[in-house]
Amino acid sequence: MTAVVEAGRREAQQAGRAFPECRILALDLCQAADLARLEATLAAEKPALGWVVNAAGFGKFGNWEAVGPDWAGRMIDLNVKALVRVTEMCLPYMAAGSRIVEIASTAAFCPLPGMNVYAASKSFVLFYGRALRRELAAAGRKVGLTVLCPGPVRTDFWAIGNETYTLKQLGRIDAFWMTTAENVVRHTLRAARRNKAVVTYGFWNGWHRRLANCLPWSWLMALSRKLI
Ligand SMILES: NC(=O)c1ccc[n+]([C@@H]2O[C@H](COP(=O)([O-])OP(=O)(O)OC[C@H]3O[C@@H](n4cnc5c(N)ncnc54)[C@H](OP(=O)(O)O)[C@@H]3O)[C@@H](O)[C@H]2O)c1
Repeated sequence: MTAVVEAGRREAQQAGRAFPECRILALDLCQAADLARLEATLAAEKPALGWVVNAAGFGKFGNWEAVGPDWAGRMIDLNVKALVRVTEMCLPYMAAGSRIVEIASTAAFCPLPGMNVYAASKSFVLFYGRALRRELAAAGRKVGLTVLCPGPVRTDFWAIGNETYTLKQLGRIDAFWMTTAENVVRHTLRAARRNKAVVTYGFWNGWHRRLANCLPWSWLMALSRKLI
């Protein structure tokens, strides 16, 4: 994280742009004590938060027996419980014009055997984000909320969750589907500034979303088993 911030600072300096002040907190968001530490830091420093991006998340793939209760619980703790908690603790420090980006996944669009808890956790993020956006608008808060639903992106995500994927399967996903984090981030920031409710990146992921809205989920579940 420090390296990313330093790279951003250097890039801003070279381009003659201002770089925002940064404070890095190393937290395990599955731990109640670390969540409490974040909440206490916010309460003590009362920062004006321009952007809140809930990116922490992981997916452990495989059927229910292969994933097991410990990994399933951690996915729910991080992808669901921590995301809600962080969003709610940041909201008091967000003024009109500030923005929240909740990171879900294209896995949110329909139930997915082989990644049942991960897909369900991301459906939660999609539904939670859309409903909270309405609540904020109804309360006149003028805080934007965009749910990002990325398809496969080349990051460490695949190193954690994909022991169940063979190299051949990953190669197939990579060739057809994967993109870079830079592409997704650029596209998402533009969409969030325009206050879009939900954003996907890429041709296939756009189709995935459209098809999930009109085809029976039983067909999509069968198709996804063939593809991945
Ligand atoms: N990559 C994809 O293909 C893809 C597709 C759809 C959705 N997504 C979603 O995109 C989001 C970002 O993932 P990514 O692709 O950037 O994967 P990544 O490179 O593995 O990044 C995951 C981030 O989550 C953090 N994290 C993991 N466990 C944590 C914990 N207990 N407490 C605090 N932070 C924790 C990691 O921090 P450390 O580095 O310190 O461990 C890391 O910064 C995730 O929500 C993921 O579900 C990814």
